[in-house]
Amino acid sequence: MNRLFNNSKVLESTWFALMPSRTLQPGKIKKVQLLDRGIVLFRNENGEISALDSRCAHLGADLSLGCVSGGTIQCVFHHWTYDGKGRCIKIPSQSKIPNSAKVFSYPVQEKYGYIWIFNGPTPKFPIPYFEDENAQPVRVFHLPLIKFRCHPNICTVNGLDIEHMYCLHHMQFLNEPKPQRIDDFRVVVHYKMAFNGSTFMDRFVSFFMGNFELHFMTWGGNMSTGYVPHPRFPIKMVFNHTLQADGSSVCRTFFLMNKGSNAPFDLWKLPLMFVIMQHFLIDDMDLFNSIQFRPRLVERDESLRMFMDTVNNRESFHPHKNYVASE
Ligand code: FES
Ligand SMILES: [Fe+2]
Repeated sequence: MNRLFNNSKVLESTWFALMPSRTLQPGKIKKVQLLDRGIVLFRNENGEISALDSRCAHLGADLSLGCVSGGTIQCVFHHWTYDGKGRCIKIPSQSKIPNSAKVFSYPVQEKYGYIWIFNGPTPKFPIPYFEDENAQPVRVFHLPLIKFRCHPNICTVNGLDIEHMYCLHHMQFLNEPKPQRIDDFRVVVHYKMAFNGSTFMDRFVSFFMGNFELHFMTWGGNMSTGYVPHPRFPIKMVFNHTLQADGSSVCRTFFLMNKGSNAPFDLWKLPLMFVIMQHFLIDDMDLFNSIQFRPRLVERDESLRMFMDTVNNRESFHPHKNYVASE
């Protein structure tokens, strides 16, 4: 059995943020490639999205070359037609439709203004959320995509790496951060800290932030949330990393800003919060792009061990290998 952690050959059963919701209009088709599998997305007139394996069940033509109508997609080659769940509902040359005439349908959700799919038959855990999300409306900003030359697991575990907060990011701890495994898919560390560095940026960020808390949580092997409950600069972030065919990862960052009563006037804080986040990222960037990950874990790396165990206990999924159509 393949261990999942830092494994570029398989794709974890987890959520992947694919594209902004607004880019998929009713009646249009979009295709996304995840490693060696294509995913074809379309939206019906009611706004519901389908995400199907792009390989036609007949001879394997690419369904994204077909056309969409009334919530179905028709293959361009011999006009087999599939409904939104991937079931073939029409074969022009015959009336009998074999049970095997179906393609895999990915669970789809829309959240944070994005289309997400779960890589597996049913979601095993939710898209990352914040406990107060029903009580506290937010405005969501999509930051530019970032490519890292390392596996999504390596980027994701970074915020759990307690020791590097001190060594690389020049943070001073005001508590003793303790990692905690919450369930099968989440590990969390609560930090209380302050910037201790002497660079201009350290002092600049420190001036605005002072002492602050960071609640960093990983979700599956490719996602994390960061929450800074700062009185003036509360920050909520969601990171989603997607493994690429060359072993690198693409990071999508969702920046959430509370919608307060004086919401329009809070917008000036956005660039500042962005700068604070970049301050961390710039330090990490060169490491992510050059690391040859080969762990020799010590006691202080307990949170890394927790994360690696969590990921190695998870499953991978491939629609062509796991999905057996019944006859
Ligand atoms: S390959 Fe799609 S209908 Fe024949
Ligand atoms: Fe870092």
